[in-house]
Amino acid sequence: MTNPVRAFAPASVSNIACGFDILGFALQSDGDGRLGPGDVVTARERETTGGAGGYGPVRITAIAGDEGRLPLEAGRNTAAVAAKALVNGEAPDAAVDLEIEKRMPLESGLGSSAASAVAAVVAVDALLGLELPAAALLRYAVAGEVLASGGPHGDNLAPSLLGGLVLVRSLDPEPDVIDLPVPEGLTCALVRPHAEVNTKESRARLDRHLPLERAVTQWGNAAALVAALYRSDLELLSRSLVDVVAEPVRAPGVPGFDAARAAAIDAGALGCSLSGSGPALFALCDGRVRARQVAAAMAGAFESSADVDCDQLVAPLPAPGARVIDGEA
Ligand code: HSE
Repeated sequence: MTNPVRAFAPASVSNIACGFDILGFALQSDGDGRLGPGDVVTARERETTGGAGGYGPVRITAIAGDEGRLPLEAGRNTAAVAAKALVNGEAPDAAVDLEIEKRMPLESGLGSSAASAVAAVVAVDALLGLELPAAALLRYAVAGEVLASGGPHGDNLAPSLLGGLVLVRSLDPEPDVIDLPVPEGLTCALVRPHAEVNTKESRARLDRHLPLERAVTQWGNAAALVAALYRSDLELLSRSLVDVVAEPVRAPGVPGFDAARAAAIDAGALGCSLSGSGPALFALCDGRVRARQVAAAMAGAFESSADVDCDQLVAPLPAPGARVIDGEA
């Protein structure tokens, strides 16, 4: 039996306004050297006497930080489903126990299910000494994300695994992920109102068909955002941070959204939109000082317009991705 392995996977902001299901970045906390929001998964090998001991190859033995809300039953648990896909695909004789520690809120738009799936595959990969390439880890982690959100998309998984700001061109037949450059000083101001949005339900409400004009607007903005990142052109980046696909459907379900977004722009943000399916909002800013002002302005607007308390985070980009941790707090 090998020693247990602990892995951390960070929370992430997906969509980045104009990149529904294809763009995302990893989050970190600013400057204190501690792990930011995300999940820690500990993987241990389990003794078996032929087969996987009657539990299937993966069992969840404990979950902390979820207030008892996440299922221990492996078939209903994002981390276990991802880990099981990996074990079945790469080491079918292995049996693994997982402990999950949530260090981030559920259903907040910050990629909670992706962080669970990614931390699980990173921990199990290291535990079994497989050293799989990132594309394979991502492919297995997708199984967990499908369980949680009802459809395969990699815009939380890929940044959580790889860090940075990434473009997921496709997941099929293999993940095709492009690491994009980040202009010096680009910083995320994030506010999380104390409310929840179920991603699966939120995705089900989106239009399945778009008018061509709206599609053209969206892909024009997504392409321009990528160009802005390569050129470090913050004015172009600012013009590109517009979502005409998901935000118009989702924002009305987030009380205080309009006031918080307006406050972010008034305080000097380059742009602001929902983080994933919300209710968290992100704003991209030029520098930490501006990001702190923007985060405070957004939180104040949520409180005054909708009487909703918020958590705030200022997260410099690019943030590191998932990793095995050894004694980190
Ligand atoms: N791109 C996804 C969405 C992220 O907006 O539904 C949430 O998991």
